[in-house]
Amino acid sequence: LTNGIGLTPPMGWNSWNHFGCDVDEKMVKETADALVSTGLSKLGYVYVNIDDCWAEIARDDKGNIMPKNSTFPSGIKALADYVHSKGLKLGIYGDAGYYTCSKTMPGSLGFEEQDAKTFASWGIDYLKYDNCHHDGSKPIERYPVMTKALKKVGRPIFFSLCEWGEMLPAEWGFHVGNSWRTTCDITDTWESMISRADLNELYAQYARPGGWNDPDMLEIGNGGMTKDEYIVHFSLWAISKAPLLLGCDIRNMTQETIEIISNKEVIAVNQDSYGIQARKARMHGDEEIWVAPLSSYRTAVVILNRGSVRYSVTAFWEDMGLDPNTVVEARDLWEHKTLKNRFVGNITTMLNPHSCKMYVLKPVS
Ligand code: DGJ
Repeated sequence: LTNGIGLTPPMGWNSWNHFGCDVDEKMVKETADALVSTGLSKLGYVYVNIDDCWAEIARDDKGNIMPKNSTFPSGIKALADYVHSKGLKLGIYGDAGYYTCSKTMPGSLGFEEQDAKTFASWGIDYLKYDNCHHDGSKPIERYPVMTKALKKVGRPIFFSLCEWGEMLPAEWGFHVGNSWRTTCDITDTWESMISRADLNELYAQYARPGGWNDPDMLEIGNGGMTKDEYIVHFSLWAISKAPLLLGCDIRNMTQETIEIISNKEVIAVNQDSYGIQARKARMHGDEEIWVAPLSSYRTAVVILNRGSVRYSVTAFWEDMGLDPNTVVEARDLWEHKTLKNRFVGNITTMLNPHSCKMYVLKPVS
């Protein structure tokens, strides 16, 4: 969407993957505090996004959507003020149907203008818009109604389409929102994570500044994968220019989790100004090479072992769209080391099962 925001993929946190419907203002405030105290906000994680279950099931007598009194007694405006005072942004969740997926709160179908105004008056910066319990009409008919309503409110609001990829939102999403889900929900397992990355890759050509493919939110820190697998998760999301929305409990993270999600060099690949999503340059059994051009003639590459045995994997310049004679310097983004050797034509690395290397290659003369 050309609303001036989302020029790089959004970064922040969302409540759903860890907390589900168990959301309240205290937890959200503590999360905002933790984003600041851990240094994550300085790295770019600025969106604090409340997912499903924040509102009363009934609108008030004027049709206004109402925050749940038992869990958000101070109201969303007060919460937005708090989050803004920390230099962060507040995101909220709605639905392009009559009820949200949890069925515990109303959707915005038929109330688009009123809800957009309400969200803007509260100071909302991001709207995730789900697709449950609707009237059977197509998302391409219902979603643009909210796009128009948001345009009218005079506040830039990142608009995240949560349609799960069924109606090929990559093909029309750019005109409607700032990101669009390409998959159904992620779970905290290797298979779920890697299959979402695969599906999302098919739409690489459609991602660009202002509109991103969204393979769903991060599971790093929720405990279902190994360290290497979470490193693959973060590397693939970063190189795929996916939204980097943390899905763990920010108040209680291990050092390992903090290290993975705080990798500045990997974040820089995600936030590169070109905004070009990685494609698979080569697939050979369990070996894969994911490549994305970066600004300043650099190239980002993830060399991946999806299998269960240790492998030596080679990435060839020809597969990656580089001139075979190009001499490059390779920066290992997880070791934080520039390799001593220069490379021409290819680069080879040993990889443990379910692990990857991530490099930035820079031509040298
Ligand atoms: C379905 C979405 O895909 C999830 O990310 C989450 O928002 C749930 N709905 C909430 O009910």
